[in-house]
Amino acid sequence: MVLSGCAHCGIINTVKQAQKSSGTDKVHAVLGGFHLINAKPEIIQSTIAEIKTMKPDYIVPTHCTGFEAITAFSKEMPNEFVLNTAGTKYTFGV
Ligand SMILES: [Fe+2]
Repeated sequence: MVLSGCAHCGIINTVKQAQKSSGTDKVHAVLGGFHLINAKPEIIQSTIAEIKTMKPDYIVPTHCTGFEAITAFSKEMPNEFVLNTAGTKYTFGV
């Protein structure tokens, strides 16, 4: 699971670093700010395309991901997408 605060270095770079540090390519969930607010549509689409190749079980874009990117994730990854709101609780386990 990758929990991003704001991903100023990019959510893809963040996940790749987590994969490298953990020694596994498996990505259970990616949560947090993906810092795509005000990003060009092509950047949003390329980010989603790259995230798809990582095959996360859950994708939870929040705050600074921005409305356009959050909406795009919801449409393009409907089975993995979770809409985070105030009070949303998560339980991860084996
Ligand atoms: Fe951010």
